[in-house]
Amino acid sequence: MARVLSGVQPSGALHLGNYLGAIRSWVAHQHDHDAFYCVVDLHALTVDVDPADLRARTLDAVIDLVAAGLDPEVCTLFVQSHVPEHPRLTWLLECTASMGELRRMTQFKDKGAGNEGVRVGLFTYPVLMAADILLYDSDRVPVGDDQRQHLELARDLAQRFNFRYGDVFTVPEAAVPATGARVMDLQEPTRKMSKTGGTPLGTVQMLDSPEEIDRKVKKAVTDTDGEVRFDPEAKPGLSNLLELLAAATDRTPDEVATGYQRYGDLKRDLSEALVELLRPVRERRAELAADPGAVSAILAAGAAKAGAVASATYRRAAEAMGLVPAG
Ligand code: TRP
Repeated sequence: MARVLSGVQPSGALHLGNYLGAIRSWVAHQHDHDAFYCVVDLHALTVDVDPADLRARTLDAVIDLVAAGLDPEVCTLFVQSHVPEHPRLTWLLECTASMGELRRMTQFKDKGAGNEGVRVGLFTYPVLMAADILLYDSDRVPVGDDQRQHLELARDLAQRFNFRYGDVFTVPEAAVPATGARVMDLQEPTRKMSKTGGTPLGTVQMLDSPEEIDRKVKKAVTDTDGEVRFDPEAKPGLSNLLELLAAATDRTPDEVATGYQRYGDLKRDLSEALVELLRPVRERRAELAADPGAVSAILAAGAAKAGAVASATYRRAAEAMGLVPAG
């Protein structure tokens, strides 16, 4: 089975856009891939973060992912800092990467370039991400568009390393095709649903109660022409609702559209479908949150499974570069 790896920052509550856009395909991939999913707490340290917040968010991220359907018996779900080979391989890769190529990373340019006070970790962030990917001989790495350049860097570093030191790393495929839905903010349907830029009323949280989901769907912005058809350009709000109902019920937006004359009926059905879609997630979440022992066991098992793969790859890389093994 091909190996897939992805990482998620522990940056707070997941919303419907994360769930339908990415997490649900992670859940699907765990069955047809050898899947590794990593909560990247070391990446979260590249900006100032409150220690108590980081601790809570890291645990929440693990619990949310399991609640969303990742099965720790099927995939390898782990926390990045639990596997010390991540920072160790990062150092080896940093010694093969150039300042110039890291300076060209657009995310760094947006966040920190030209500022002498910017953290070194923010600059080398993409090398840590490359280590995440290369440690597991990953064939495929599902990432959003904002991470494509980082993935290209991981490929470049792998190829350069293999050329200089011998065949150590699997060169990952640029991406798996995007299968997830593109979910827009319910209040501002020309913008993606987002943790930072979105409106609270337009953002359905993965763990919202049925009442909250219903309220947000009912208040979703549409238009006044009264015609139910899928046309994201002309009718962004209504089309988003169709896209959501399609994603929740495994149909296409056009198929969904044929069943409706009135916006209100569509909203009612969408609200019910989302409540049902997210109900098991919310229930599993509550069970797990009440069982810290189960969460610790998941963390320990994930660290052991990931660590076994990562330590073998690290050793290959270190020895290829001329580092002497300890024993
Ligand atoms: N940088 C990614 C993001 O911000 C998260 C990430 C870290 C990642 N390591 C990874 C994604 C490895 C894919 C593979 O979204």
